[in-house]
Amino acid sequence: MKAIVCPKYGPPEVLQIADMPQPKPNAGELLVKVKAVAVTVADARIRGARFPAGFGVIARLIFGIAAPRRPILGGCFSGQVVAVGEGVTEFSLGDDVLGMKGFELGAYAEFVTIGQQHAVAKKPKKLSYSQAAALVFGGTTALFFLKKLADLQAGQHILINGASGSVGSSAVQIAKALGAKVTAVSGPKNIKLVKSLGADTAVDYSQEDVKNHHDRYDVVMDTVGNLSLSECENILKPRGKCLLVMAGLPKMIQAATYHRRSPKQIQAFTGTASESKDDLELLASLSVQKKLDPVLTQVFSFKDVVAAHRLVDTGHKVGNVVLEL
Ligand SMILES: NC(=O)c1ccc[n+]([C@@H]2O[C@H](COP(=O)([O-])OP(=O)(O)OC[C@H]3O[C@@H](n4cnc5c(N)ncnc54)[C@H](OP(=O)(O)O)[C@@H]3O)[C@@H](O)[C@H]2O)c1
Repeated sequence: MKAIVCPKYGPPEVLQIADMPQPKPNAGELLVKVKAVAVTVADARIRGARFPAGFGVIARLIFGIAAPRRPILGGCFSGQVVAVGEGVTEFSLGDDVLGMKGFELGAYAEFVTIGQQHAVAKKPKKLSYSQAAALVFGGTTALFFLKKLADLQAGQHILINGASGSVGSSAVQIAKALGAKVTAVSGPKNIKLVKSLGADTAVDYSQEDVKNHHDRYDVVMDTVGNLSLSECENILKPRGKCLLVMAGLPKMIQAATYHRRSPKQIQAFTGTASESKDDLELLASLSVQKKLDPVLTQVFSFKDVVAAHRLVDTGHKVGNVVLEL
C-alpha cells in the first residue's frame, strides 16, 4: 500500500510517499481503507521532534530516539471497513468509521487496522469523510479538558484562548453545547469565525489584552500556552479553573501544586487527552445534533502532505487540516 513515511525528524520535506506492507487485521480488529486523515499539531510535533519544553527526552523514548520508531505518522482518520478479524461483532464490512490511533499512529496510509474496542465509531452519514477526520483531534481534546477535568457547567463563563485552532474551535462549540457563556480569543482574521461557532464575545488579541479582564471567568482554557498561571489567576473568579492544554513540563509541575499557594484557590489542570470510543461516539452524536460542526478550511490531496505540514507549522491554521485519499 502507499503510505506517507517520516524516515527522520526534520522539516515537512522529510515526508515521502513510499510502498509499505499492508496491515492485516488480527482477532478483534478492523481493516479500514482510509479516506481522509487529519494533519494535526501532534503529527507536526513528532515529525519535527518539536516537543513541549522539558519533554524532549521522554518524547524521544516514546516516539524514537534518532528517528520516528513508527515511520507512518497520523492518528485521526476516517474510512471504510474492508475486512474484519475473527470475533469482530460491532462492525461489518462496508461500515464507514472515524477513529483515533493515539501514540500508535499509522493513519497516513491507504489502510489502517484498529481494535473494535478501541477508539473507533461509526461515521454519521451527514459528515463527509474529511469532516469526520477533522472532528477527532480537537474534539477529543476539548471533551477531555472541558468535561473530564473542568466539569464545565451551564451558566459558567469560560475564556478560550486560541479559539480558532483545532482544539479551540471544538471547545467553543462544546462549551456552548454544555450551556456555558464563551469568550473566544483569536487573531483579527478569525473573529467572524469564532462568533459563527457560537462565542458570546470574541476578543481580537491584536487589539485587546485579556490579561486585563480581572476576576471575570469561571474557567480559562489556554490552547496557545502564552498565559502564565498567575495571569490566569488574575482573570479567574475565586475557585476558578485553569485548563492548560498547551504546557511544558515546568508549567505542569507548577500547576500540580498551584492550588496550595493560590490566593483565589484556583485549580490548574494539565494532561494529555486520551482517545476513547465513548468520546468519538459523543462527538459523532453532537455533530448529528448540529451542536458540533468541525471547522475544515484546508483539504489537501495525499501527495501534498508537505504543503499541509507547512501550513500546520505556521501555528495559525484555521480549525483542521485534512489529507484526502
Ligand atoms: N494536552 C493535550 O492533550 C493536547 C491535545 C491536543 C493539542 N494540544 C496542544 O494544544 C495546542 C493547540 O493545538 P491546536 O491543534 O488547536 O493548534 P492550532 O490548530 O494550530 O491552533 C493554534 C491557534 O493558536 C492561535 N494563536 C496563535 N497565536 C496566538 C496568540 N498570540 N494569542 C491567541 N491565539 C493565538 C491561532 O489563532 P490565530 O491564527 O487566530 O492567531 C491558532 O488558531 C498545541 O500546542 C497542541 O500541541 C495538547
